[in-house]
Amino acid sequence: MDTSPFHSTDKALIESALKSSGFSAKQGETRILHNLNIQNLPHNVAIVGMGNKDNVPNTASVDPLKQNIREAVAKGVSTIASTFASSKAIHVHVHPFDKDAKSAAEACLLSTWSFDKYKSEANRGKNMSFQLVQGMDKMQKQWNEGTILANAQIHARHLSECPGNMMTPTLFAEYAESILADAHSTKLHVHGQQWIEAQKMGSFLSVARGSEEPPVFLEIEYDGTDGSAQDTYAMVGKGVTFDSGGISLKPSNDMAMMKGDMMGAAVTLSTMWAIQQLRLPIRVVAVIPLTENMPSGRATKPGDVITARNGKTIEVDNTDAEGRLILADAIHYICERHSPRYCVELSTLTGAMDIALGYHYTGAFCSTSQLWTKLEKAGYATGDPFWRMPMHPGYLKQMKSNVADLKNAGGRSGGSCSAAMFLSEFVPNMKLDGQNARQDVDGKTAFAHLDIAGVMHAKGIQGYMSSGMTGRPTRSMIEFMRGLDHHQ
Ligand code: BES
Ligand code: MN
Ligand code: ZN
Repeated sequence: MDTSPFHSTDKALIESALKSSGFSAKQGETRILHNLNIQNLPHNVAIVGMGNKDNVPNTASVDPLKQNIREAVAKGVSTIASTFASSKAIHVHVHPFDKDAKSAAEACLLSTWSFDKYKSEANRGKNMSFQLVQGMDKMQKQWNEGTILANAQIHARHLSECPGNMMTPTLFAEYAESILADAHSTKLHVHGQQWIEAQKMGSFLSVARGSEEPPVFLEIEYDGTDGSAQDTYAMVGKGVTFDSGGISLKPSNDMAMMKGDMMGAAVTLSTMWAIQQLRLPIRVVAVIPLTENMPSGRATKPGDVITARNGKTIEVDNTDAEGRLILADAIHYICERHSPRYCVELSTLTGAMDIALGYHYTGAFCSTSQLWTKLEKAGYATGDPFWRMPMHPGYLKQMKSNVADLKNAGGRSGGSCSAAMFLSEFVPNMKLDGQNARQDVDGKTAFAHLDIAGVMHAKGIQGYMSSGMTGRPTRSMIEFMRGLDHHQ
């Protein structure tokens, strides 16, 4: 058993206390030791077994040691919460296992968060707060970074949990204004209906027209390079604040989950918030089309033909395939305006993504292997991983229409893949490096579509994540952006 971070006398004290309680240090095994008297530690200490390092499951997509720390810390914290169940507020000093204070901070915050905004005091969760154990100053920077990453994800979770009536396009824009208010090097533009019309975003507007809530198009520009950046990186997030399906109405079972259909938007905003908190020395722009998808006398009907910003006509075969319609115009706008080196788009786009990969991976459709490798690396570090999905031109055949250039729904077979190829039709000069090729395509925007429909919601507690809307993959997006800083 490794109690090496402690002084030898304290170590002996802890080890004998654990031994008499029959502790075997198995992964996830927990003990609370009461009334200890150890310098820099509180009197009550939770100890968690981390198992044998070699036995940590290695999925190859997630850093196993970091993941073990997140899960052990979450286990320790939940054991403390249940042991002191009657305390309303608990303050925990956390030991940075294996010198990874970042993962420890992430687990503390993500495992204890709950959405209590609309509950009265008596129904709210415990108030838990955390700090690094004293005397660990060298770890403080990592701990602070983990805190920013987790708080960014919590912003995304909060936004996604807020019900449709409390998180309309207008209210989302106000939230963005409030968290970016003291922003360093950040500009926020809130474009309304008239601007959207002037931009000829007919595809976006075809979704918005069924709703009483006016659409909003957010544009966020961050420059941490004082204007010296060579490359611009772009993000696009799907912001459907409620998806009823429109005239192609969804069944009412689980329709309430569709308040989370703006999680791509939430992750995008939260990533921009974290980038400016961390003062990353890069230039990043983001756009977020926000609307409801509702049925009404004015709503777009199946069979209607609309014209997107890039001039392509689209037959709306199914009004429930609305995400790709609002994203088409957003992707085209940001690529044309900012000529980004990478354009990464996030959306709860297809139920088929949940069927394919479920909760464990975000599906990543990447136009180049170079971009894929960067995303894969970021997901490995955060434990919120990606799995590469194909971008094959063959799927586009499913999106051919008899009356327009494209139609918006391509049938059940490969539904997530045909959706990805539909989106790629709105990236100017889109070139695939071949579905299996390994070279980058020079001088063009590399595009990634991240389908987060499967990872949107956690059913019951999953590892270090408390249940509900997940805000994934916020931390992976922040790590990805950190990896684009060429100076580090
Ligand atoms: N927002 C949904 C996709 C979704 C489903 C996200 C479940 C999260 C959980 C999207 O707008 C949608 O309705 N997609 C349709 C597309 C189809 C009509 C081509 C779907 O997946 O059924
Ligand atoms: Mn839909
Ligand atoms: Zn949707």
